[in-house]
Amino acid sequence: MRAESGKWRRASGAGVTPCANRIRALVGWGACPRFRSGAGRIMGDAAFDAAAHWDSRHREMPPTDLSWFEEHPTTSIDLVHAVLGDQPASILDIGGGAGRLVDHLLEEGHEVTVLDISAAALEPARARLPASAPVDWIVADIRTWVPTRTWDVWHDRAMLHFLTARDDRVRYTATMRRAIGAGGGFVLGAFAEDGPTHCSGLPVHRFTAEDLRALVGDADVVADSCTTHVTPAGAEQRFRWLAGRLR
Ligand SMILES: C[S@@+](CC[C@H](N)C(=O)[O-])C[C@H]1O[C@@H](n2cnc3c(N)ncnc32)[C@H](O)[C@@H]1O
Repeated sequence: MRAESGKWRRASGAGVTPCANRIRALVGWGACPRFRSGAGRIMGDAAFDAAAHWDSRHREMPPTDLSWFEEHPTTSIDLVHAVLGDQPASILDIGGGAGRLVDHLLEEGHEVTVLDISAAALEPARARLPASAPVDWIVADIRTWVPTRTWDVWHDRAMLHFLTARDDRVRYTATMRRAIGAGGGFVLGAFAEDGPTHCSGLPVHRFTAEDLRALVGDADVVADSCTTHVTPAGAEQRFRWLAGRLR
């Protein structure tokens, strides 16, 4: 079932104010350091155009230079296996961007949907995969997106921690529960309590093990761990992971 097959979608007017649009028209996002960096802005700020911010981040350097880049997403793949076993499944990657996870999941025979707020984020992934690959691409803000089908597994590496507003995290869980249902698998990776306080010019919400478990709610947990990601520039970032099945 692929109700959103092959379509590019943009959540209508997500976070774009008339004022922000006027500034964009006058100077362009790239010419305005405040909007380019997102400095002092948070995802929950109504005047902040999150989609434009992320488009700009994804266009300013190659995907392999972005701080979150990993050639082989080992932890994500291991945890998908821990949740699923070896059976082919439908997997939804939240904030998947230009990441390589989709390539590996396709090689294993899974059907994949990649959702991202930024159309620019998805361009490199779409360009490197064959047009016939069983991938759906959705451009949407997870804070407002409403799923129109279900998946076997929900995966998120490094998107969740940008939801600094509690209401957004509550809604995120409700959306996840709607997208995978009871028995659905989840793999969540976000900055740990000793991880970075900011990323891509935005503040983040850092998670303890208890925070992640509380966010997910009633579930059978199969993995609860921490990893250290080394960025292309050599910095270390602590991640916390939680994987399992919803009850
Ligand atoms: C740090 S990157 C991680 C990319 C990918 N998951 C990986 O591990 O390589 C965060 C991604 O989340 C996307 N993103 C940020 N806020 C989002 C939102 N509210 N809804 C959907 N995607 C979002 C960004 O465009 C970006 O591609």
